[in-house]
Amino acid sequence: MKTIMITGGAGFIGSHVVRLFVNKYPEYHIINLDKLTYAGNLANLKDIENRPNYTFVKADICDFDTMLQLMKEHHVDGIIHLAAESHVDRSIKDPFTFARTNVMGTLSLLQAAKIYWESLPETYEGKRFYHISTDEVYGALALTRPEGDADGRGPYGEDFFTEDKKYMPHSPYSAAKAASDHFVRAYHDTYGMPTIVTNCSNNYGPYQFPEKLIPLFINNIRHRRPLPVYGKGENVRDWLYVEDHARAIDLIFHQGKVAETYNIGGFNEWKNIDIVKTLIRTVDRILGRPEGADDDLITYVTDRQGHDLRYAIDSTKLQRELGWEPSLQFEEGIEKTVRWYLDNQEWMDNVTSGDYQKYYEEMYAKR
Ligand code: NAD
Ligand code: DAU
Repeated sequence: MKTIMITGGAGFIGSHVVRLFVNKYPEYHIINLDKLTYAGNLANLKDIENRPNYTFVKADICDFDTMLQLMKEHHVDGIIHLAAESHVDRSIKDPFTFARTNVMGTLSLLQAAKIYWESLPETYEGKRFYHISTDEVYGALALTRPEGDADGRGPYGEDFFTEDKKYMPHSPYSAAKAASDHFVRAYHDTYGMPTIVTNCSNNYGPYQFPEKLIPLFINNIRHRRPLPVYGKGENVRDWLYVEDHARAIDLIFHQGKVAETYNIGGFNEWKNIDIVKTLIRTVDRILGRPEGADDDLITYVTDRQGHDLRYAIDSTKLQRELGWEPSLQFEEGIEKTVRWYLDNQEWMDNVTSGDYQKYYEEMYAKR
């Protein structure tokens, strides 16, 4: 039996990865290790919580002694590391928390894995440390084709993020993720640890905490609250349905080459303002509101500091070498996502109770 520790498994992407592995690999023991910060929510995993091949452990990845003890106790063979502070706006207000979790937390896991695996007779044989990272480490691309193609869609520039692109992070979030990527590669190059790093574009889908653009705006449209579009809404993001990311993680964990980097993305660039208009149209149609009824919710607010203009992932390597491709067209993915949030109002009400309102009041008081 293989034991795989998935960190951050109670968060947005992590919960989809845990669900996929628990369902697909009954012969594996899946340990979901999560601190349950504001972003972690065990309700994301209700459907699999009683499975015999699943264990949840509440712990902090920065707690080195506990990480080492857990790895020894459960004979961990593989680590899929997603635990992180993930929201750019929060990193601008509180960079220390991001350095602690994303850099020191990753280092603590690496060092615990090193000590545990090197204590075994087989050392690194059959082991894997897979670090989930972001396209934001590459910085920002230029918007050289602002009108896009003939259909008014992306690509919005000739340049893309390829695996050999120089790291140029701008926000405290992406700087901390970049540092963690460097540590992971250093553990391969220095100690021979079998590591893999992947850098993915923006994910969307069910169970995303409503501080991120898509779930926040769906909920605001439903309640007819203002939609705070940063700057002019011209920034471009490259969107991937979260289950497609989880499938890529499964494929790369099992078939990816040690020490390699793979970019994950679906060649699906959108300007923020076009996403916002699509969300309004979709929510209004599903709720039976007249077309255009909620257009006036769009509210242009002060831009995010250091706001990256454009992200666009080139995932050719992953498609060519491992045969991965996204399964969902964006229109289909957005329809599924909007319906999920509208159908799961109880989930939304639970995660937006308590401190959530306070966070938003403080955030917008400054704008
Ligand atoms: P998320 O914020 O939804 O979830 C993060 C999870 O990590 C939460 O469950 C939280 O409780 C847990 N966590 C935080 N600090 C911890 C600590 N110290 N110890 C243990 N657990 C801790 O994040 P997400 O959007 O699911 O992102 C997951 C990973 O994927 C992150 O590493 C992020 O950088 C990366 N990523 C995200 C996206 C995206 O679009 N969301 C895209 C590319 C890469
Ligand atoms: O690219 C991958 C990254 O995508 C991940 O590494 C991050 O963890 C994830 O949070 C995401 O970062 P972004 O900053 O791109 O996502 P966010 O949903 O916060 O914002 C998407 C775009 O929408 C961005 O250009 C900022 C804008 N925005 C966001 C919010 C929350 C607004 O205009 N208004 C908003 O209220």
